Amino acid sequence: MTQDELKTAVGQAAIAHVVEGEVVGVGTGSTANCFIDELATIKHRIRGAVASSEATRKRLEAHGIRVYGLDEVEHLPVYVDGADEINAAMQMIKGGGGALTREKIVAAVARKFVCIADATKMVPRLGRYPLPVEVIPMALGHVRRELAKIGGSPVLRRGFVSDNGNLIIDVSGLSIDDPSALETRINQIVGVVTNGLFACRPADVCLLGMAAGVQTLLAS
Ligand code: A5P
Repeated sequence: MTQDELKTAVGQAAIAHVVEGEVVGVGTGSTANCFIDELATIKHRIRGAVASSEATRKRLEAHGIRVYGLDEVEHLPVYVDGADEINAAMQMIKGGGGALTREKIVAAVARKFVCIADATKMVPRLGRYPLPVEVIPMALGHVRRELAKIGGSPVLRRGFVSDNGNLIIDVSGLSIDDPSALETRINQIVGVVTNGLFACRPADVCLLGMAAGVQTLLAS
């Protein structure tokens, strides 16, 4: 199976987690897009969706799925999203598509976070994928220096502005021994909006696409 076929398979498998008659939280990226296309086939069975990015909002609306603002819904039973890396504890690095802040907000509200990923995303240790950090533009220099102090090599994502009007720094070289502690530490740097470690609020379940089929993994 190709990587695209694995993404399609996990997008299909995630439909089983969608709660009928409710609003579903929808992530961003190529795997989340597979889920959106599958969601369109059952759109008459859901109330609508909350989008984690403008790209996702547009794709949902193109399928005729009603998109709600997060503040318009009282609760969100499920959030479905991809990841750039995920470990056995269901902690993730996200933000390759630059939507990390809205993704983290929607994930925080959702009762259940379903991560959909092809097998290449499962890693024994987070950190080979550069960690995205969303930064208020005027704080760029300060945040870069602070990230270098904790051992990172920060690189500005050129020509990219987030949906929130901010910049993204991709940080390689970090030693991620304790993902929750590092998530908290980086978020305390003044000027950081959020970072792409999803460790304090990990996924509840991972649907992992493998050649043998889709495996359902819970935190170990
Ligand atoms: C978007 O900002 C990201 O968090 C994506 O969820 C993540 O990068 C996975 O994207 P793909 O499914 O395209 O690999």
